Amino acid sequence: MKKLYLIANWKMNPTTQAEAKKLVSDVLRGIKSLKAKNVEVVFCPPFPYLPLFSSVHLGAQDVYFEDSGAYTGEVSPKMLKDLGCKYVIVGHSERRQYFGETSETINKKLKAVLKNKMTPILAIGEKDRDGEPNTTWYAIVKQQLTEALDGISAAKMQKIIIAYEPVWAIGTGVAATADDALTAKLLIQKTLAQLYSKSLAQKVPVIYGGSTDSKNIAQFVQEAQMNGALVGGSSLKAKEFVQMAEAIRNP
Ligand code: PGA
Repeated sequence: MKKLYLIANWKMNPTTQAEAKKLVSDVLRGIKSLKAKNVEVVFCPPFPYLPLFSSVHLGAQDVYFEDSGAYTGEVSPKMLKDLGCKYVIVGHSERRQYFGETSETINKKLKAVLKNKMTPILAIGEKDRDGEPNTTWYAIVKQQLTEALDGISAAKMQKIIIAYEPVWAIGTGVAATADDALTAKLLIQKTLAQLYSKSLAQKVPVIYGGSTDSKNIAQFVQEAQMNGALVGGSSLKAKEFVQMAEAIRNP
């Protein structure tokens, strides 16, 4: 049975610890009876809430690439590891767009997360389906992937999850179609086959993100052959998120 990931990216929400605790306990209560051992539900809350949760699969939304030092405002991979994080989202499009994250910093962050024995969730995706000036969406996806993975060995590559998140689908209520997502998955696998090998390309989990909900999640797993989803808005609604966990599992 293939392993599936349902990863909650809360972004900068909710605004109080009490709400954060309630959201996690409501979701945990909802998924308790779920007999799907192959679905890993992961919570990626804002940094200050990480210490609130110890018995869940925990991830961070970002990280800096140095272990410690004079970097005011930053959070290191060692700190995340110490707080129990197993996953770290790297290169989310909101980080690229609002915080000037480049392929170079994303590459350094990936290496730092891997060095600290956590699983990076590398987010890639084009801004515009029609392509940006003088290029196509698949050229952009291929370039983002190639640059992010620069200098990463095949052994390390096997520890990475790739999240395909077309920017136009994030938070818009307009998800990609299953066909779009399948095309992206095949493109990502082809790129990994060129960079590494065909057999490795088959092994790397690829998940989808962008306006997923309990109604459309199944198509991404079944038709687009995705290994799960990175979920923004819907992960803030306990009932909806629990329904997603139910809809995603393999019978
Ligand atoms: P969304 O966000 O589900 O709200 O579209 C997904 C993401 O940004 O990871």
